[in-house]
Amino acid sequence: PAPGWALSADVVVVGSGVAGLTAALRCEAAGLRTIVVTKARLDDGSTRWAQGGVAAALGEGDTPEQHLDDTLVAGVGLCDEEAVRTLVTEGPDAVRRLIATGAHFDESSEGDLELTREGGHHRRRIAHAGGDATGAEISRALVEAVRARGLRTVENALVLDLLTDAEGRTAGVTLHVMGEGQHDGVGAVHAPAVVLATGGMGQVFSATTNPSVSTGDGVALALRAGAEVSDLEFVQFHPTVLFLGADAEGQQPLVSEAVRGEGAHLVDADGVRFMVGQHELAELAPRDIVAKGITRRMLEQDAEHMFLDARHFGAEMWENRFPTILAACRAHGIDPVTEPVPVAPAAHYASGGVRTDARGRTTVPGLYACGEVACTGVHGANRLASNSLLEGLVYAERIAADIAERHAEDGLHARVPEPVPHPETPAHPLLAPETRFAVQRIMTAGAGVLRSADSLQAAAEQLQRLHTDARDALDENGKTSEPGVDTWEATNLLCVARVLVAAALLREETRGCHWREDHADRNDEQWRRHIVVRLNPDRT
Ligand code: SIN
Repeated sequence: PAPGWALSADVVVVGSGVAGLTAALRCEAAGLRTIVVTKARLDDGSTRWAQGGVAAALGEGDTPEQHLDDTLVAGVGLCDEEAVRTLVTEGPDAVRRLIATGAHFDESSEGDLELTREGGHHRRRIAHAGGDATGAEISRALVEAVRARGLRTVENALVLDLLTDAEGRTAGVTLHVMGEGQHDGVGAVHAPAVVLATGGMGQVFSATTNPSVSTGDGVALALRAGAEVSDLEFVQFHPTVLFLGADAEGQQPLVSEAVRGEGAHLVDADGVRFMVGQHELAELAPRDIVAKGITRRMLEQDAEHMFLDARHFGAEMWENRFPTILAACRAHGIDPVTEPVPVAPAAHYASGGVRTDARGRTTVPGLYACGEVACTGVHGANRLASNSLLEGLVYAERIAADIAERHAEDGLHARVPEPVPHPETPAHPLLAPETRFAVQRIMTAGAGVLRSADSLQAAAEQLQRLHTDARDALDENGKTSEPGVDTWEATNLLCVARVLVAAALLREETRGCHWREDHADRNDEQWRRHIVVRLNPDRT
């Protein structure tokens, strides 16, 4: 459908988590006409669910250099060192600016920030809020700031595709909006700068810590727009997600690494602390190592989960330090004060995404990416715990500075978009909403925490079949499913799943969170490099 309405701005920010709202606030402060569009409500993304906190060298004796070292080790040889240096050196001030924006972090009675530890960190450097409700506080503060500044926002607006001008430069985005009065239906925001801050793609798997909106929309848009995407095979599985049954689907409750940071133990069915002896940091090893340790022990014991034992915290500490997790466990009939908590790994974070440079620019002029949707190079093969909120803050500020600079130089003047192509093409047929569940089951079976050529090949074939069936239906009828948020989401999930599986098949080694049963070792000679994908728009 052609857009039925259009707005215009200097910059449109797509997404409203820490990255999107920080970018929007900074753009607005720089005098740019800024519009935020977001798929659901302003605070419905992943940021609100973040528990552990924000990592930054803010504690006495800590330095950006030590934070850099821990980040590089976690990333297993694939981090871009300069990108990490930027993150860790600009990080502390970015957190201070977030505090100045209105976010309240937990403090000691002397008024110092309370800092905790998480996997892979050799120091206490994770600032937190409300005990274990850090993301909720950040989201609250940023949404309030956006409202106080009167920024223009459009909610319930699912981004569809990038608009470009005759020279291939960004000219805006098309959107499908539901229930927002005059801006209902398919419309467009025309702008010479687009910031993708759409978050992750955890919903590509059956069980994930991500909310239902995390369907890879930004990566799928970027792929359709011909932008480069990198490192999609590196899906991080969080080691300790509350186990609610082997067939639990959708968003699952997280049990933060900070619980281990404060001294909880991982134990197997016999009560044995199986991470001791596997890594110098035991339960606080980098996340990929703990996820592997848990999965291995589950396979050895033919168990569906392991246990996190923090009974020794006592009721008071549980109530004060981890109120969110305590409530979630109790809501499912588990009392961490008196019993070990059943946990298993689940999909948590996309370490890869839309490839950007140090200023957040993608390979399409005028298109930026920030936060989980982006691949700035800071995470490598495995993101260090609590570096994601920090990355959103630091790189959002860099993007706003770049847009403001280019705007001042008249390098980002309004552009005339080319006519909108029909969004449904043989390369991207719209899928029926229920295909979402088929994609999730295929991905969980074939491309989960432990992968092999056989499992990945089977997944690739099944995904291809879903695509071919939809394309054949399109050929016959000229149209497949009724366009709507659930059909677009299913389509985006299939798009990113196919690329993820192709990259995972190609990488014949085990590195970071990419674990191949049939290639158990790291192969630095061949694989100390990135898999970068750019789709040919004419190929199906
Ligand atoms: C957690 O609280 O364990 C999650 C932190 C993160 O994903 O960085």
